[in-house]
Amino acid sequence: MIAGYRAAELEAALETELQNAAAIAEPLRAQLAYCLLGGGKRLRGGLCLAFCELFGGSAADALPLACALEMIHAYSLVHDDLPCMDDDATRRGKPSAHVFFGEANAILIGDALQALAFSVSAHAREEGRQAVADAALRMVAGQFAEGMHAAQDPASLREIYAQKTGALYWAAAVSGAHAARCTPEQAHIAEIYGSAFGFLFQIADDCMDRAQDEQCGKQTLLTVIGIDKLAAEARDKLEEILQLLQPYHGEAAVWLRVLIEKTVECIH
Ligand code: IPE
Ligand code: IPE
Ligand code: MG
Ligand code: MG
Repeated sequence: MIAGYRAAELEAALETELQNAAAIAEPLRAQLAYCLLGGGKRLRGGLCLAFCELFGGSAADALPLACALEMIHAYSLVHDDLPCMDDDATRRGKPSAHVFFGEANAILIGDALQALAFSVSAHAREEGRQAVADAALRMVAGQFAEGMHAAQDPASLREIYAQKTGALYWAAAVSGAHAARCTPEQAHIAEIYGSAFGFLFQIADDCMDRAQDEQCGKQTLLTVIGIDKLAAEARDKLEEILQLLQPYHGEAAVWLRVLIEKTVECIH
């Protein structure tokens, strides 16, 4: 997979937001920095910035929303790794938050990152803020549904993917487009791209985790549908997205094309 779009700018903005959060003191600030800064690919924030630029805005217009998306994503990972959830000891190549700071602090780090996300994006355009808030809720709904272990059929698994992973990508694309004061047609392109990319990203992630999932008997779309059908579906979605992006040129358009192409290459 490729690196985020304007990742250095986004990283600097995240660091500044953390420094400017007056309600937070050490050592909580350092613990938030450990979980938020350095290490993430910044794809959600990157998608937000790229869609803003694609539709004529500047990265600065979308930076608060991009920061909010990365904060919500970082919080979701801290909670996802908890012993009561996936019980993962490492994240982004480092000990997980609960291993390093203890379980109670990890819960609070997640809470703080989510609150900070809504604080930093409070003055962004209404449509973008609403998309991010909806996605934050849908992500939790997806994690909840997955935790119930109820879904084994393809339709339910697709819905869980759309919620737990797809929603934040959908919101990234849509909120970035709105930061550029997009037209309804442009908002539609962002919606299609964001939802399709979210799906493809989770399938690519399943492909990477295949051996581990098979070993512990976890049902994923990959185990239920099989790689051949999923790879064919991924190629169709890629074609559809490339068609949509055809009229667009420039740095953001190139990045959006390459991102989805590289992701589909991982589905085999
Ligand atoms: C990991 O997402 C969680 C999933 C939704 C599968 P990323 O792979 O984008 O995580 P970072 O931000 O780059 O660490
Ligand atoms: C994480 O999904 C999705 C969210 C945190 C919303 P996974 O549990 O499949 O991702 P990894 O494998 O821990 O990164
Ligand atoms: Mg999980
Ligand atoms: Mg996990």
